[in-house]
Order: sequence, then C-alpha cells, then structure tokens
Amino acid sequence: MANVKQIYIGLLGLGTVGSGVVKSLLANEDHIIAQTGFQVRVKRALVQNLQKQRSVRIDQDFLTTDAISVLVDPEISIVVEVMGGIEPALGYIRSALQAGKHVITANKELLAKHGDELALIAKNAGVRLLYEASVAGGIPIVRMLQAYLTANRVTSIRGILNGTSNYILTRMQGAEVTFAQALAEAQQLGYAEAAPQSDVEGYDAAYKLSILANMAFPVQTEIACVDRMGITEIEPVDIAFAKQLGCVIKLIAEASYKGGQVRLSVSPKLLSQSDSLATISDVFNAVTVEADVVGELTFIGRGAGEMPTASAVIEDIVEVLRTPTIPATAPKQKGTCAGVGVFHLREVQNYYVRIHFAKKEDAIHVSAWETAAFCSEDRILEVGRTKDEYTRAYLIATDDRKRIDKFIQMTGVLSWIVMPYGGDFVVHCSEPLTELSTG
Ligand SMILES: NC(=O)c1ccc[n+]([C@@H]2O[C@H](COP(=O)([O-])OP(=O)(O)OC[C@H]3O[C@@H](n4cnc5c(N)ncnc54)[C@H](OP(=O)(O)O)[C@@H]3O)[C@@H](O)[C@H]2O)c1
Repeated sequence: MANVKQIYIGLLGLGTVGSGVVKSLLANEDHIIAQTGFQVRVKRALVQNLQKQRSVRIDQDFLTTDAISVLVDPEISIVVEVMGGIEPALGYIRSALQAGKHVITANKELLAKHGDELALIAKNAGVRLLYEASVAGGIPIVRMLQAYLTANRVTSIRGILNGTSNYILTRMQGAEVTFAQALAEAQQLGYAEAAPQSDVEGYDAAYKLSILANMAFPVQTEIACVDRMGITEIEPVDIAFAKQLGCVIKLIAEASYKGGQVRLSVSPKLLSQSDSLATISDVFNAVTVEADVVGELTFIGRGAGEMPTASAVIEDIVEVLRTPTIPATAPKQKGTCAGVGVFHLREVQNYYVRIHFAKKEDAIHVSAWETAAFCSEDRILEVGRTKDEYTRAYLIATDDRKRIDKFIQMTGVLSWIVMPYGGDFVVHCSEPLTELSTG
C-alpha cells in the first residue's frame, strides 16, 4: 500500500444515505484502493443533532453542526451533500464549488430546480458536480446518459422512477386494498415518508425526469414543463377495470424529443401486460431509453434505500478520482414550455376515463353529453360499469384532451379520473366488458 494516496471527503448529512456511504466506503476500501490508488476517508460529517443515535460507527469528533468547518477545510476535496431540501443545501453546494471542491449530491429537487446554475458554477471553478444518486437510486442511468450514449441521439426516456408509488400500486393491484391502506402499509415499512406528497403526487418522479431529460436532449427545460399527475385519485374500481382490459396501472414518467420539442409527463397510465414496465413491482425502478443507434435499452434496479443509493454516491466518488477534470459537453439551447406537454398534443391519444355519479338517474343524459362534447373523429367506448350503475369507465381516443374535460364538466359527476391508456383500443366490443360490484 506504499503508493496509496489519501483523499478526504466531507459529508453534509449522515442520515439514511450518508450512513450508507460511510458503511460502503469502509466495506469496499481495499477494492476502491485497487481501482483508483486512493484511500477515501470521511473527515467530517455535518448533522443537525450531535446527540442522535447513529446506525454507523463514527468517531464523535467527526460530527459537526458547523457547515463552514466542512466547506472551508483545505484537506477536504470532495463534498457529498446528502442532507436534502433546498436551503441551506443550495448555499452549501455553491460555497463548496466556489471553494474548488468537487460536489456529489443525491438531491433531485435541488438539481431539478437549480441544476443549471450549479453546473455553471462548477464549470467556472473547474470542478465536478455529480449526481448519480439523484435518479433511480442504484441504477447507473445518469452515467449511462452522460458517458455511454454521447454519440447516440436519445429520442425518448420512459420509466418508473418512484419506488413508493410503485409499491402502493403493486399492493392495490395484488392485495385489492385502497390507496389509503396501501400508503399506510408503505409508511409502516419505511417506504413512504410521514409527508408523502412528493412521492404520491408525482413531484419526485417529475424532478428525476427533468434531470434525465436535461442530460439526454439538446435543450434545457424547466421543472414547470412537466405535465404532472399523481396516484392519489386512483380507486380500487380503476384497478378492477384495468384488469378487465388486460392492463396494470403504473406511475409512468415519459420524456421525448422530436422536431426541437421536448414533451415531459408524469402520470398514472394503463399499460398492457406485455409492456416491459408492467412487471416492475414493489419498490423497484426501471428506465427505458430509446436512442437512434443503439435502439432500446432497459435498466431495472432498486430505486432507493440506504445501500443502493450509497452505491451511486461511491461510484461518483470513484469517477471524481479517475476524472477530476470536467469532460467536454455540447452547449445547450434554452428550451421553453411552449409545445411541451403530452396532454396538449394535437395528435390522437387514447385515454381511460372513469366517472362516478351521485345517483343513478344522473347518468340518463350521458349519450347526449357524449354527442355534445366530442367530434365525429373521436372514438368513445364504454368498457364497464358498476352494478349500481353509479360508476362508468370509458376508453376515449381524441386529439384534444379538452373535449374530455368538457364531457366531464357536463356530467357534473362527483369524482372522475383521466389516465393515458396504453392497451389495445377494444373497438369491436360495443357492450360493457363486465359489471363490477365495487362501488
Ligand atoms: N433515502 C433514500 O433512499 C434516498 C434515495 C435517493 C436520494 N435520496 C436523497 O438523499 C438526500 C438525503 O436523504 P436521506 O434519506 O439520507 O435523509 P435523512 O435520513 O433525513 O438524513 C438527512 C441528514 O442530513 C442532516 N441534516 C438535515 N438538515 C440539516 C441541516 N439543516 N443542517 C445540518 N444537517 C442537516 C440530518 O441530521 P440529523 O441526523 O442530525 O438529523 C441527517 O443526518 C435527500 O436529498 C434525498 O432526496 C434519498
């Protein structure tokens, strides 16, 4: 070990991910030395509460509540931000980069909102800003796009990017429980946070999709460009109708680039059983990338958790040790939201629509409302209703989503859901598939 050099890192945060980083650096120390010639040592870790019980053995002197002692220490050359949130993390990352330290972060929200600015600071300072852990945990999708698909033109990215939602939908499908029951289970198992909005309302997947799209496509877009819908409105009756149609419901993040336009959406979608993403269950994530030379590539793995996320962080540490200078990248145009959004496309899309009337008699004018709201090119097919006739499900093919909104408004229903439909449009079936007893 005579030629082994020491490199010091500073951790901003020593929670789930930070502890995983410390554990995996220790467990794989020899391997990392063999790969890089460096022994990586954690010099200091910023925390909020010095008295807190830690899941990792670390000398109490390494813990600090003073961020400056990490950010200005000349011995620390890599800062790993695993504290989460926007501030003070953003200010700390700016300071670390400006002080000439490489920064590795797992913070998707911060990157989706401030990634542009931070990348520019890193470039001006000649240091690296890496964020493999911010998207899909252990799946090395960021490096794949940045380093191995540079001669390809990526045309689309499609994936399941939020493990919590995927777990909830898997349980709703398999155990026939409600959204609230599946969420409570996920919280008990530690898969969902006490405040789960970011996961179940699609924000977390939107942040990740935005990060991937900005790497893959030649234009830069903002998080506001993502059409976003979560899974909170999905009811057991939708799961049952989807089953009848031979489909499963998944929260799908999709990005595509065509004719200079980026389209970004996060939405629950009915997928046919043959879709490669239909079998991705529980907390697993999957990403499918379509590129012009290589064709379709799919990656599957654990999207979160202590060790999968730590794996992504330590791979970034090794990347910095091997390549401390910034690799050349093509300049990007600033993209705008104009024309962005799968729901605003003027091309025919298939939708699953479920409406729930307050009483049976309210449904009497449905045919008239259909005629008033849709045009002759649109296709409308009732695919099921509940025995009490309060709830009906349709497949609708239209080039204007606003017509569906108009139809729903006319019906005055109590509740409804509209989701993209990725199965076969059952055009030859004019009768309802089956009547369900689930209300
Ligand atoms: N957990 C995952 O599976 C996962 C997966 C991918 C990405 N990420 C991302 O990784 C980041 C960290 O997640 P996590 O699950 O490890 O979080 P966590 O368990 O809540 O840990 C956060 C750590 O940061 C410290 N911290 C928070 N705010 C602080 C402040 N203002 N000043 C000083 N210290 C502060 C906390 O200190 P105390 O320990 O003293 O409270 C704790 O050690 C987040 O951006 C998250 O989105 C997490």
